[in-house]
Amino acid sequence: MKKEVKTGIIGAGRMGITHYSIINSHPEIKISSIADPSRHYAEYDEEVFTLVKTFKDYHELFKKDRPDAVLVCTPPDLHNDILKTSLDHKAHVFVEKPYTTDPNQAVQLAQLFEDEGLVNQVGYVNRFNDIFKEVSSLLKKNVIGRAYSLKSEMFSCTIVEPDDGSGWRGSREKGGGAVYEMAAHAIDLVNYLVGKPDKVSIKLNSIYSKKVEDAVSSTFVYKNGCSGTIYVNWSDTAYRKPTNKIELFGTKGKILADQHSYKIYCNQDEPGHGFRKGWNTRYITDVFQNVPFYVRGNEFTRQLYHFVDCIQTSGTKNLCSFRDGADAQEVIHRIFKDNEINGKA
Ligand SMILES: NC(=O)c1ccc[n+]([C@@H]2O[C@H](COP(=O)([O-])OP(=O)(O)OC[C@H]3O[C@@H](n4cnc5c(N)ncnc54)[C@H](O)[C@@H]3O)[C@@H](O)[C@H]2O)c1
Repeated sequence: MKKEVKTGIIGAGRMGITHYSIINSHPEIKISSIADPSRHYAEYDEEVFTLVKTFKDYHELFKKDRPDAVLVCTPPDLHNDILKTSLDHKAHVFVEKPYTTDPNQAVQLAQLFEDEGLVNQVGYVNRFNDIFKEVSSLLKKNVIGRAYSLKSEMFSCTIVEPDDGSGWRGSREKGGGAVYEMAAHAIDLVNYLVGKPDKVSIKLNSIYSKKVEDAVSSTFVYKNGCSGTIYVNWSDTAYRKPTNKIELFGTKGKILADQHSYKIYCNQDEPGHGFRKGWNTRYITDVFQNVPFYVRGNEFTRQLYHFVDCIQTSGTKNLCSFRDGADAQEVIHRIFKDNEINGKA
């Protein structure tokens, strides 16, 4: 039996509760505290949470509960201060994307956590999806040859009526808007599979939101000749759940993938990989690896169990570290810069 990891949750809204339910299934995790200032928690406090301490102020959580690790699931503009406090208290951190809202802070925090030897992970959950993991492995094995073109898309029905920008999702300063909320995933998926682009250009469109963009169209260019597009729309009622799609075109074939399946077109038979010339389809049911507890998708469990593994087995390389989060943040920042120069949302 490995050492129990005493864990706090900071921000217990949609993602905080999701992560609570998942990580609570881990036999070596003890959730000991929650910090959230919302009225909901103040009201239920001792009545409902008999085994877990609740705090309105996360500083109190660190001082009074002294967790080994925290899951940070607050609006993004708060992440930087919370992560700095976590560092002061030497706590390992899993933080939801987009990690921070400033590229310099992102790099500094990555360095500080590395220097302290603290586990640091960002919630870019696609890296733990069975289909995208397999696509990454096929690319590394050069099955479609050199990738020369890509398309990364994300759709959701998050904002489907006029939004006055009063909540955090409607304010870029607070980490809202379709770039931070959705495009961050599509960008990280490209960083993960193909690498960070050398140049980006962007067009942001508002559909329902007063203060932020609802749709994002971007071009990515690489020095090696590869190029591609990102298209993200969080006001698309045709999608019930957030969906990522990626298409990769290579010199030996192409791959079309989403979270549930992929199709690969091979110019030649690839018997070593089990593919014939032409189209081959694989579904999530063909490639998935079981997880002990399922909420929202295997990848959500796998990312948190990986976080625990990294804490318990020192030296385990984190598969989505603050460095990876900083790479996504750098691209996001370049997108905003290009938008400042070439057009407003
Ligand atoms: N990985 C994913 O698929 C995914 C999906 C949705 C959201 N997210 C990310 O998760 C994070 C949270 O999003 P959400 O949808 O859970 O938002 P939410 O609004 O549902 O929850 C945020 C919670 O943080 C609390 N909070 C606010 N200030 C706080 C403070 N000072 N200390 C402690 N708690 C505080 C709020 O009261 C609320 O309960 C964001 O970074 C978002 O981008 C990730």
